[in-house]
This record gives sequence, C-alpha cells and structure tokens, in this order.
Amino acid sequence: MSLKKKFLVIGSNGQIGTVLTNKLGEKHGFKNVVGSDLRAPEQQTKFVFEECSVLDKDRLEKIISKYSITDVYLLAAYLSAKGEKNIDNAWDLNINGLLNVLNFAKEKKIQKIFWPSSIAVFGPTTPKNNVDQYAITEPTTIYGVSKLAGESLCNYYHKKFGIDVRSIRYPGLIGWESMPGGGTTDYAVDIFHEAIKNEEYSCFLSENRTLPMMYMDDAIKATISIMEAPIASIKIRNSYNLSSLSFSPKQIESEIKKHIKSFKVIYSPDERDKLAEGWPQSINDNHSRKDWGWEPNFNLTQMVNDIILNLSKRYKKEKV
Ligand code: NAD
Ligand code: SER
Repeated sequence: MSLKKKFLVIGSNGQIGTVLTNKLGEKHGFKNVVGSDLRAPEQQTKFVFEECSVLDKDRLEKIISKYSITDVYLLAAYLSAKGEKNIDNAWDLNINGLLNVLNFAKEKKIQKIFWPSSIAVFGPTTPKNNVDQYAITEPTTIYGVSKLAGESLCNYYHKKFGIDVRSIRYPGLIGWESMPGGGTTDYAVDIFHEAIKNEEYSCFLSENRTLPMMYMDDAIKATISIMEAPIASIKIRNSYNLSSLSFSPKQIESEIKKHIKSFKVIYSPDERDKLAEGWPQSINDNHSRKDWGWEPNFNLTQMVNDIILNLSKRYKKEKV
C-alpha cells in the first residue's frame, strides 16, 4: 500500500462533506481527495468525484483500489428526522454502509476510518446537562439506535481486528457553506437564510429547546484533529463526546436580531421538537480535550457574526 495519504469522503455532497472535502483538499492537495455520493454534485468540484452508493461494495472497492485510498471519511447516513420516516432504510444505510467500510479495513484495503456518531445516542434517561462520556445511552430514534450500534461496531472492530477507526459524537452542526439534510437541528441553519432573505422564520422547535450545537469550522477542526492524532492518544474507540455551544432557538433569534433588528420568528413546533426533547442540553467533552487536545474556537457571538457576514455577501452577490 502506498505511504502517501489519499482520502475518500463518502457522502461528499452533504452538509459536512461539502466543507470537509475542500478543507482536506486545501491541506493535502485536491488530487489526493476523492468525493463520492449517490449523484454528481451540481457544481464542478476541485477534487475528483465518483458516483457510488456506500452500499455497493463492489463499486466502492474499485474506487478504493483505483485511487489507492488510505483514509475513508464515511459521512453517508440518514439523519434523525428523515430516519423516523424511513426506519428500514435508515438502519440499512447507517449500519451496512459502516460495515462495508470496516470490512475494507479488515481486508487491509484501507488504513484509517472516520465515522461520526451523534448526541442522538443519548435519550430521555440521560441527564440533561454536562453529559458524561459514559452516561446512559437509551436512544428513542432509529437514528440514535443505529448510531449506538455503529459505535459498538467501531469498538468491536478495533478490539478484535485492530482497525484504526475514530469517531466523535457531533452536536447539531451549523454552517453557511452547505445545507443540512434531514436532521432535527437543521432549524439553526435555515434560520440564518430566512433572516437574511425574508427577515422572518417559522421555527419547528419550541423557543426554549436548548441543544448542544457547534459551528462547522469547529466540527471540521475536530474531525481533522482526531484523524491526525497519534494512534496511542485515541483511547476511546466507540465515540468521543464533543462540545462547544449550547443554545435555544430564542437565544439564536436574539443574537441574529443584533444584526437584523426587524427579524421575526414564529414558533410552530412539530414532531422534530419531540425528538429534540429526548436529547441532552449540554455535553461534557473532557476526554476529547485530554486525549487528543480538542478545543473549540467559536462562541455563539463569533459564530453568528461569521455566518451573517458570509451569507450577506453571498445573497448580495446573487442579487447583482
Ligand atoms: P447529509 O444528510 O447532509 O449528507 C449525507 C450525504 O450522504 C448526502 O449527500 C447523501 O446524498 C449521501 N448519501 C445518502 N445515501 C448514500 C449512499 N447510499 N451512498 C453514498 N452517499 C449517500 O448529512 P451530514 O449532516 O453531512 O452528516 C454526515 C454525518 O455526520 C452523518 O453520519 C451524520 O449522522 C453525522 N452527524 C451530522 C450532524 C449534523 O448536525 N449535520 C450531527 C451529528 C452527526
Ligand atoms: N444534527 C443531527 C440531527 O439533527 C444530530 O445528529 O439529526
């Protein structure tokens, strides 16, 4: 196997994949990054793109061999809200996609895997605040159930076969460069677009529904940091708690109003509010900080300033 790192991002058109592929390309050279997803992206990419389902093991194996892939970032998944509407498909993609990639590592076709878990592994029986790494995990969504099973698979493949698979439990992620794809925390992205375009937003979570959240820049920083950390520093092989911000829709509304005074939010909670009700409000990520040096860069005000600045520029350009 080549010593040079070659990266495959599976689910590269998604909210995280769109940003991660570009960050990896800037860092390691775009010729060393391959993106893959169900369909080709709408815009031309700087990295090579291959259309492929993670469930198509033969095609995936050909791509891995063709580009001598060393590291796989597996991002293809059904998220919480979409998963509740497609239970069988969510289980199939979230578990069998992971198994396919773990087995490539077992067969020594790849060297290292990143696979994200989620705060959705926690449930109503978990304490609400400062949730410990080893707190109760009794999820009540198929998404959370599949993430918890996935964490166990990662741990099992590491212990039994020595697979170098690394994972973090992302909180809800917010960025301006890409749109989310069917999660409960998607409101915190939509709210910025609607604030800038229409100065009004109808929110599907209730106003005081506090959740652990994170700016995309910090999530990408964490993803790359854990993958670059020395192998001996990775002590937890199911998935690491990760934390930076916690806020409610009302709090983000107030921050946005500092920039857009006339902004109005109407609260019409739907079934997604019930999913969020079962999740923690804040997370203790001491193990990530201690083991591989995790530290976030953005607080709420800095994140809101950055998103408003970038989205305002983007929408102004589109109008011209
Ligand atoms: P997303 O829904 O935005 O993107 C997923 C991508 O996977 C999409 O582009 C989709 O087309 C692609 N995909 C779907 N089925 C596929 C298949 N069979 N083969 C290949 N690609 C397929 O999701 P995201 O927000 O980018 O999340 C990526 C990962 O991070 C997921 O595992 C998710 O559970 C996890 N995560 C995300 C968040 C968040 O807030 N975004 C929070 C916690 C965990
Ligand atoms: N952001 C994700 C979701 O809402 C949490 O993993 O589904």
